Amino acid sequence: MTQTLRLGIAGLGTVGVGVVKIIRRQAAMLEARTGRKIEITAVCARDAEKDRGVSLAGYAWETDAVALAKRDDVDVFVELMGGSEGTAKDATEAALAAGKDVVTANKALLAIHGQALAEQAEAAGQIIRYEAAVAGGIPVIKSLTEGLAGNEITRVMGVMNGTCNYILTNMEAKGQGYNALFDECAELGYLEADPNLDVGGIDAAHKLAILSSIAFGTKPNFDGIDIEGIQRITLEDIHQAADMGYRIKLLGVAQRSARGLEQRMQPCLVPVNSPLGQLEGGTNMVVLEGDAVEQVVLRGPGAGEGPTASAVLGDICDIARGLRIPTFGQPATMLEAAQPARTGLPAPYYLRTALLDKPGALAKVAAILGDAGVSIDRMRQYGHTNGTAPVLIVTHKTTRAALDIALATLGDTDVVALDPVALRIEEV
Ligand code: NAP
Ligand code: HSE
Repeated sequence: MTQTLRLGIAGLGTVGVGVVKIIRRQAAMLEARTGRKIEITAVCARDAEKDRGVSLAGYAWETDAVALAKRDDVDVFVELMGGSEGTAKDATEAALAAGKDVVTANKALLAIHGQALAEQAEAAGQIIRYEAAVAGGIPVIKSLTEGLAGNEITRVMGVMNGTCNYILTNMEAKGQGYNALFDECAELGYLEADPNLDVGGIDAAHKLAILSSIAFGTKPNFDGIDIEGIQRITLEDIHQAADMGYRIKLLGVAQRSARGLEQRMQPCLVPVNSPLGQLEGGTNMVVLEGDAVEQVVLRGPGAGEGPTASAVLGDICDIARGLRIPTFGQPATMLEAAQPARTGLPAPYYLRTALLDKPGALAKVAAILGDAGVSIDRMRQYGHTNGTAPVLIVTHKTTRAALDIALATLGDTDVVALDPVALRIEEV
């Protein structure tokens, strides 16, 4: 295994350019570590004229990613274009069919078509590697498939979208609005081509679907994830949660119990002094819990040129060294269909609403919650402005179903001036 490993790279944006830079800068180090020369033979992007800030001299230019994927002088197809459908999928399938291994950073593609692609790869004797697809620079796929392979995984959770964490933490730290912070994320190269995937929680849910599959030996089940984005979170929520000792995070949780596989990606409150509560900016954190290891916490940059390219290079080096692990840690044909849990595990909830200044308003709210079986742990009412007062409630553990019954009834009363915002408080 001493011949040169020849790469074809499709996509020369934030990640692709980062990969080219490392391969040009660290050629000798990569060869020393893997025992093989690693070279780029061909590249592809949409615009051949664009200055990408890195030399592409010596690489053949392809206008069609599928053609690049099939080239005889390419051993590994590196897919860094993005998107679950269209060219990324077509070119990945073409590469596998042509006998190439694939490295990708594309979580959308794997969350939605991962099972079919894994089956195709395994039938053809090829492998798909995708460390960069989940939590950027954090080697979480390697941790789950290799380092923790001897554990029955009990829970996986994490903050896995840099954009959302950057926005949420800086809303609190700088008191800045959502739009200004969103623009900063664009400058930092964090955003997906469709940024609604970021703020809508979908990008992070793609990542959770992948982790969940490896952790629980199930086929990726993106459709089984309860997803809620951060668009409804206001500065008021952030400040009031902080007042009660919590931070708001877009948190993904996957756990399997006798009730089935529970997967959710939602804004949650976590204690301010917990590791997740302390996570700042575009940093990601993944918490892995196993029967033998107990708990492992991985923290690192979740997005951006360098960190993501670092993860892609880790995969390329593994292929150069001859490491061949099934896509989701065990043969794709052995993965079970996920059985989604019908109801989530009970948890305490944070509720924010505003009440009209009427006699008995608070009592009505307490009675409605009580009738639905939701018990109040703490309650705080702030001063009235223009006849309404913000009210915060922290409940004892309850099911989301019981809470939803209470929320629907609250909406029908004559005392509630603001549709309640309900956020789960996660035990971390
Ligand atoms: P990007 O900056 O938007 O770059 C995408 C690149 O793909 C561009 O060079 C574009 O060409 C090229 N491209 C798009 N459609 C193409 C097509 N049909 N044929 C040929 N080339 C095409 O995206 P990115 O941020 O580098 O992300 C790439 C992948 O990495 C995505 O799957 C993303 O989810 C994933 N990812 C990104 C990050 C991050 O921090 N950015 C982190 C982890 C994973 P032009 O430049 O000519 O337009
Ligand atoms: N858009 C993603 C994020 C990039 O903000 O985390 C990394 O996957």
